[in-house]
Amino acid sequence: MKILIIGSTGFIGTYIYNQCVAQGIPALGTSTKGEESNTIKYRLGDDPGEIIKIITSEKDDNLSAIITASISKISECEINAKETRKVNVEDTVELINHLVDTRARIIFLSSDAVFDGIKGNYKEIDDINPINEYGRQKAEVEEYLKNLSDSLVLRISKQYDIDIKKRHLISDIYNQAQSNQRVKCIKGMCFNPTYVADTASGIIECCKRGLSGIYHLASPCSMSRYDAAIKVVDKLDMPKEIVECVEPEELNLTYRIPLNTSMDVSKLKAVLKHDFKTMDEVLSEWHIDSHDSYGEYKNR
Ligand SMILES: NC(=O)c1ccc[n+]([C@@H]2O[C@H](COP(=O)([O-])OP(=O)(O)OC[C@H]3O[C@@H](n4cnc5c(N)ncnc54)[C@H](OP(=O)(O)O)[C@@H]3O)[C@@H](O)[C@H]2O)c1
Repeated sequence: MKILIIGSTGFIGTYIYNQCVAQGIPALGTSTKGEESNTIKYRLGDDPGEIIKIITSEKDDNLSAIITASISKISECEINAKETRKVNVEDTVELINHLVDTRARIIFLSSDAVFDGIKGNYKEIDDINPINEYGRQKAEVEEYLKNLSDSLVLRISKQYDIDIKKRHLISDIYNQAQSNQRVKCIKGMCFNPTYVADTASGIIECCKRGLSGIYHLASPCSMSRYDAAIKVVDKLDMPKEIVECVEPEELNLTYRIPLNTSMDVSKLKAVLKHDFKTMDEVLSEWHIDSHDSYGEYKNR
């Protein structure tokens, strides 16, 4: 098996690439700059000629192409709907068509944002009903892939890590807390926060198993954003009172946010023996350095 990662320099793509290397799986990645080692320069909308040339020259019938690349900022999708739709839908579908011609299996990273967030605990068979542009763009690619028999859509939830130099759920909360801001959490917002390393290894397992169709790949522990924030603040030894529940209107967002996008993950669990760490387990591995900005905060 070989793995092509479209977007191997991103938050999730980096983990997928590094885990492939650690497991001895031949992997090739792309980035928009192509400056990083082992990456091809590629931007959605470009002619994927060089990628296709490498794939076809290697004549590997067992190639999984994982598409992580997208403009994934919800606010940017809302504000620049036309431009982001071109990249996230039209250019993505065009790339998929080229890859399918080489007989690569497509694995597309979708999102829990395809749901309207009213019901929660969504299963794969539940109707989707995105309420913002980002979710609609994901839903359109999903719809396209329904007609490709050997493709896999993985809906993932909010990712986190303990590397706070990157942007994710925990670093967002951490940065707000350490700069003395109140940590504002939308009331009723609920999801399945997932450790990014577990997402990456889960995706690789799905490739190995040759799964197709739609699956929810996320930690089985759904929780509110408020509860997630409390865990982080607790770990930082800061008072719970800095975490505040607010109505969405109070955040003056430029887009609608689905509230309860928690997902039922039993379909994947039934076919894949894959462990997801709990947030408590991951946080217990987080050793806050006295030289980092939080250390400075504590010593003020
Ligand atoms: N992170 C989450 O919490 C989360 C949750 C649900 C769903 N998802 C979905 O999962 C996928 C991966 O997320 P992520 O957090 O890893 O994203 P990310 O950190 O923003 O990484 C995006 C990757 O795509 C590449 N890329 C960006 N724009 C591109 C373009 N126009 N053409 C080609 N490549 C482009 C980037 O390359 P450069 O490094 O060169 O810019 C980077 O390698 C996304 O589709 C996202 O919507 C993520």
